[in-house]
Amino acid sequence: VTIPVAVIGASGFLGGELTRLLLGHPRFELEYLTAESFVGQPLTDAHPNLWSLRDRRFEVADPDAIAGRCAVAFVATSAPVAAALVPQLLQRGLECVIDLSPAHRLRDEVVHHKWYPDAERDPAAAAVAVYGLPEVNREMLRSCRLIASPGCFATATSLALLPVGKLDGVALSAVTVDAKSGSTGSGSHPTASGMHARRTGVMSPYAPTTHRHVPEVRQTLVDAGVTPADAPLRLGMSAYAVDAVRGLLSCAYAFVDDSIDETQVRRAVYQTFKGERFVRTVSAQRGIAPLPDPRVLVGSNTCQVGGFYDADAQRLVLVAALDNMLKGGAGQALQAANARYGWDEADGLSTEGMYP
Ligand SMILES: NC(=O)c1ccc[n+]([C@@H]2O[C@H](COP(=O)([O-])OP(=O)(O)OC[C@H]3O[C@@H](n4cnc5c(N)ncnc54)[C@H](OP(=O)(O)O)[C@@H]3O)[C@@H](O)[C@H]2O)c1
Repeated sequence: VTIPVAVIGASGFLGGELTRLLLGHPRFELEYLTAESFVGQPLTDAHPNLWSLRDRRFEVADPDAIAGRCAVAFVATSAPVAAALVPQLLQRGLECVIDLSPAHRLRDEVVHHKWYPDAERDPAAAAVAVYGLPEVNREMLRSCRLIASPGCFATATSLALLPVGKLDGVALSAVTVDAKSGSTGSGSHPTASGMHARRTGVMSPYAPTTHRHVPEVRQTLVDAGVTPADAPLRLGMSAYAVDAVRGLLSCAYAFVDDSIDETQVRRAVYQTFKGERFVRTVSAQRGIAPLPDPRVLVGSNTCQVGGFYDADAQRLVLVAALDNMLKGGAGQALQAANARYGWDEADGLSTEGMYP
């Protein structure tokens, strides 16, 4: 038995990637693919790679029609569009909605409003949302109705910092994060600074302060028990655009008072993720790419995490690499949906990265 699904925003980068992944899924069946400016056009106008779907056309995102034909919807639009659409889909009885936008990620209404003032959301929908990072919230995902799929910077940074919870005697008080992303991170709609002539070859800071994923990481570290709820972590994140189409590298740095050694850090990373299908511990492997590197993960749902200790400076260095379109986006959303149904989390996600 298959479950008919809708991909809302299927003409976009994440929607297209999700559509590609769902083609190989054993239980989900692509039923309804929506767009806004591409409505009525063949799917291959936006995604020439999806040739097997050349007979399909983008439809309007009509909640009644979607609810009539689908049991599950993935919403890959901007946050304001998702905030308006998700409650309508839930009210019409969809079994599960997976929101890839930031509209339902932050549980605290005040915090949400501060960071996403343009995404006015329905409190009833927000109240049932479960943050979709399976490595932290796997059990809560089972049978939930709304999955708030994490952001790409937040996923990499949270996974990088989770091992601190296994470092005895180390309390995090202040962390600085420096993260680099490829151009697909900013979506498929052209901007003046995103055009090839200006975007290629860049190494430029685009959010030196106040990155929107900071509160998401804070919330996750509290959920995972890494930091206490009553003492918010001083976390600063700076984001850079680099010359890549896909890929994200997040490096988290923290000066610590206690002297530790690198073996402890490596052990903590290993202990945190042992048994996790999609997190690979990489702290000086042999071979061509011994350290976490998004380049080797392109097309794969894997996140690589490495932990290091700079003894001279008493500095922890935690690094995570992923493909923003997969573990940072569409792949993670599908992994969480698989977890929600109690299926193998790797259904539809078994490919390794393309390298070189
Ligand atoms: N890109 C990433 O790496 C990444 C990672 C994690 C999370 N996210 C989040 O995922 C969401 C989608 O990102 P993206 O990069 O895929 O964006 P995108 O390429 O810009 O795609 C946006 C999609 O929304 C559709 N859309 C626009 N206005 C709409 C409306 N009023 N009603 C219905 N649909 C509408 C667009 O349709 P048309 O193209 O036909 O106009 C397109 O299909 C965003 O919230 C983003 O923050 C992105």
